[in-house]
Amino acid sequence: MNPPNDFLPINGTDYVEFYVGNAKQAAHYYQSAFGFQPLAYAGLETGLKDRTSYVIRQGKITFVFTTALIPDSPIADHCKLHGDGVKVVALWVDDARKSFEETTKRGARAYIQPTISNDAHGEVVISGIHTYGETVHVFVERRNYHGVFLPGFVKWEPYYCPGTTGLQYVDHIVGNVNWGEMDIWAKFYHDVMGFNQLISFDDTDISTEYTALMSKVMASSNLYIKFPLNEPAHGIKKSQIEEYIDFYKGGGVQHVAMATNNILETVAALKNRGVEFLRVPDIYYDTLKQRVGNIDEAIELIRELGILVDRDEDGYLLQIFSKPVQDRPTVFYEIIQRKGAKSFGKGNFKALFESIELEQERRGTL
Ligand code: FE2
Repeated sequence: MNPPNDFLPINGTDYVEFYVGNAKQAAHYYQSAFGFQPLAYAGLETGLKDRTSYVIRQGKITFVFTTALIPDSPIADHCKLHGDGVKVVALWVDDARKSFEETTKRGARAYIQPTISNDAHGEVVISGIHTYGETVHVFVERRNYHGVFLPGFVKWEPYYCPGTTGLQYVDHIVGNVNWGEMDIWAKFYHDVMGFNQLISFDDTDISTEYTALMSKVMASSNLYIKFPLNEPAHGIKKSQIEEYIDFYKGGGVQHVAMATNNILETVAALKNRGVEFLRVPDIYYDTLKQRVGNIDEAIELIRELGILVDRDEDGYLLQIFSKPVQDRPTVFYEIIQRKGAKSFGKGNFKALFESIELEQERRGTL
């Protein structure tokens, strides 16, 4: 429920759009490896001259992969600078004009003025604002639209269609912000978008011998949208946040957490399909029961799959993190199952960072 005084009521994540070097192959990877289902397409065949987009969906999670067809294109520029990465975190709203007005009058930089587009299936209003790095939020008002995705897209029905893996919805989307920018962007989400800060920790809470970071979790008042923000902090060696910033050439989306209601089945399926996950040292599981108490799942199975568990005052959660899914060590995924817990797995950070440091050592970026 949206509180009556919320100036930016958001119904949920509408879609996440990636600018990539090869949208056709990216869509195939997410179909094959993650079990997303084909939804929509736009490109030369639909009258576009400069870009192609593939839209895939699983549960309520919609991803768009867009690539440039010409060199002189903001999409090509984005890929050249950042590699494959998230350009748009689109938010589903009832009023895209009001969302634009309320945020820009509070200081948001305009990305798209409110624009109406329509086809035989109705009308969509979109608008957009800039956030950290070159990332943007697009507001999507689709209450008068009944087409497959957005006007201009046609249904995409390839014969190749592997099944789903149980992914249900976007739990949270994490942004890595540049050095010294944490407070700027936390304030942006508070002042410009009306979000509240749920949680905060700094390098005294989370640090290993080498890695340090600061983190704040910003959330919409209905809690449908949760955006943790990370900023690198100085450690003995380069942190994974700093490594991201170095390779992404600035702030951007670090990971999308996707929820399942059966993490054992989902992770087993994803592993079978070739999704690579980080693995914490096996000793993590020797002390698991002491740390989190009784859980419904068999520890042996959890250990076998490499799933992590954390508990807070509301319950517990199970989570696992993929390795980066493109060549630059930037964007990755989290698979999460919540059993009451509302937090983000802080108790696992230290063990995780130690395993990421092993990967960084292999990349020569520690
Ligand atoms: Fe996360």
